[in-house]
Amino acid sequence: MESKTLEIRNLNTSFFTQQGEVRAACDVCLEVQPGQITGIVGESGCGKSVTARSVMGLVRYPGRVVSGEILLDGKAMTGISGKEACSLRGAEVSMIFQEPMTSLNPVMKVGKQVEEALLLHRKLSKKEAAKSAAQMLEKVGISDVKNRMECYPHQLSGGLRQRVMIAMAMICSPKLLIADEPTTALDVTVEAQILRLMKQLCDAGTSILLISHNLGVIAQICDYVYVMYAGRVVEQADTMTLFDHPAHPYTRGLLQAARSLRSDAEVLATIPGVVPNLLHLPAGCSFSPRCGQCQEPCKTSMPDMLPAGEKGHLVRCFLAEKEKQQPVEAI
Ligand SMILES: Nc1ncnc2c1ncn2[C@@H]1O[C@H](COP(=O)(O)OP(=O)(O)O)[C@@H](O)[C@H]1O
Ligand SMILES: [Mg+2]
Repeated sequence: MESKTLEIRNLNTSFFTQQGEVRAACDVCLEVQPGQITGIVGESGCGKSVTARSVMGLVRYPGRVVSGEILLDGKAMTGISGKEACSLRGAEVSMIFQEPMTSLNPVMKVGKQVEEALLLHRKLSKKEAAKSAAQMLEKVGISDVKNRMECYPHQLSGGLRQRVMIAMAMICSPKLLIADEPTTALDVTVEAQILRLMKQLCDAGTSILLISHNLGVIAQICDYVYVMYAGRVVEQADTMTLFDHPAHPYTRGLLQAARSLRSDAEVLATIPGVVPNLLHLPAGCSFSPRCGQCQEPCKTSMPDMLPAGEKGHLVRCFLAEKEKQQPVEAI
């Protein structure tokens, strides 16, 4: 059987703050299958970036991966030396962030930066690197490449900077691209172009883990989706199933909010309340204080991930068994 591009098993990542341990990723299990785009969705503060950073070994002090296993293409990243893990990641995974300005060097021409990304991982002459860099920048849809390569990051628009980041991430042909809110800072037209580009990259053989708080973005290009809430995966399903038969009250809330944003509804649907402070999680299900369907057991115990109808559809909710996913309109 072909191995999964990424497999995260029971990942726990915490921040050890003066106020106590913040469990930012809690027993997270997640897979990215080869040739697929897998999404992580959830409101801000739910642990999406921490999960991605854990894969990259980029969790910053006072945070650290406490336990769990991370396998890239079947190879364990945990339990090997930092140096080995580093070179494995460099060759196989790239990550792009929401704001490319923070990851690009402001005083280096963008062409040079793409070349350097290549030279870091491959033995090539300067001339060959320059040629590959230009080709990659063209591939990600940058026109007038010759001139653009001579620009500094601040001379480019947000959309162009994000394309440069994607070119840098792609130039070493990673098996996995992790994109953390790659289009959040962009307008919808540029967003659509970047999403199309990611679909093309995926078709060309790179598996993608796409993180977004925006269900619309997820719906457009993901094959499979994980919904996170307060540090945990609360629902997972293939994209069609998730959107047609959302089973977790949180997912339904997100969907209703997204739908009312698109329609001209007078009253914007929102999920009441906010994501809880991870230092003071409620007892039982973390979503219970915001949940319209909260019942007794929800206040005292955390539900496991339970099968919900379709194959591969799992939900962390006591109601799932009883209800068997009503269509969202019926709620
Ligand atoms: N440096 C930090 N110190 C303490 N807690 C942190 C730190 N960074 C992140 N966290 C905690 O991790 C949670 C998840 O953060 P993050 O993964 O960035 O959320 P998301 O990407 O879903 O918006 C935050 O809500 C916060 O409680
Ligand atoms: Mg984030």
